[in-house]
Amino acid sequence: MKVLGIESSCDETGVAVYDTALGGARGLVAQAIYSQIALHAQYGGVVPELASRDHVRKTLPLVHQTLDEAGIAPGDLDGVAYTAGPGLVGALLVGAGVARSLAWALDIPAVGVHHMEGHLLAPLMQDDPPEPPFVALLVSGGHTQLVHVEAIGHYRLLGETLDDAAGEAFDKTAKLMGLPYPGGPQLAALAEQGVPGRFRFSRPMTDRPGLDFSFSGLKTQVLLAWRDSDQSDATRADIARGFEDAVVDTLAIKCERALESVGCNTLIVAGGVGANRRLRERLQVMASKRRGRVAFPPPALCTDNGAMIAFAGALRLEAGQRQGLEINVVPRWDM
Ligand code: KG4
Ligand code: ZN
Repeated sequence: MKVLGIESSCDETGVAVYDTALGGARGLVAQAIYSQIALHAQYGGVVPELASRDHVRKTLPLVHQTLDEAGIAPGDLDGVAYTAGPGLVGALLVGAGVARSLAWALDIPAVGVHHMEGHLLAPLMQDDPPEPPFVALLVSGGHTQLVHVEAIGHYRLLGETLDDAAGEAFDKTAKLMGLPYPGGPQLAALAEQGVPGRFRFSRPMTDRPGLDFSFSGLKTQVLLAWRDSDQSDATRADIARGFEDAVVDTLAIKCERALESVGCNTLIVAGGVGANRRLRERLQVMASKRRGRVAFPPPALCTDNGAMIAFAGALRLEAGQRQGLEINVVPRWDM
């Protein structure tokens, strides 16, 4: 089954084709992404109306480009998948509208995909993928969740953030130290040059039982440290390193606790923060100590993309799921 996937929940237009006959990593036959970062940078964050308008401009040209690269005619597609939520409602409607209409014109089925399920399944788009049951750490700009995946489609929430998501904490911390939007990846890059241990921040909620997170206090600790410092470039990097170590440590401690609580030894990690190098290393070490396994998507498939939507949609279409002609999106939606 050749499935076209369209992602438009926030500030990236992502399009891809996944072919289940090839499967694994090779199943991803083509993908294209257009980032609106430059458009929103001057406002310091995503402007929803501008995001929708840019998706309108970019989606069909990207579909055309992706099919061209894949060497696939529109008529060879077997289904279309799109992100149905959660996300910005206007942005979601663009992807949903284009996807549903294409499917109707081509007389093939369409299916709406949960954005976080797309992230969650992305690490399985590889040869020799981990098999459920496993624990998934979902760390993006909007979510920080630990999920027990009993089977594909059967998800049990083990813990989640009570305030900021991990990616949001990266972005806000970067902003308060004067880094331009989107700050998360830049803060991580800066942390690479920082001296470990010069600034030590707490590991929130690790000193009590449970699998929930809280990252907003960490941001305040950074604010105070930054305010009282010489605010030099070196200090900014050292604080970035202290902040990153605190987030990475906290996530790793809770992941290990989650594996222990469900009695399993396989962890998958997905979402934008999953691209963080130090987090990947730290979880790798934790997993090898337990003689377990940790699986990540390649860094480019951690952040928003069309491939994860094509892949998750292909699994749902193969299971017989279909979306009728009415176009529904769900801006707030639990997985
Ligand atoms: O999954 P994603 O692309 O979009 C959402 O669904 O939210 O995640 C974006 C988030 C942003 O908050 C960004 O700062 C964070 O992922 N992020 C990173 C890194 N790359 C992206 N955070 C830490 N280190 C990185 N290398
Ligand atoms: Zn995302």
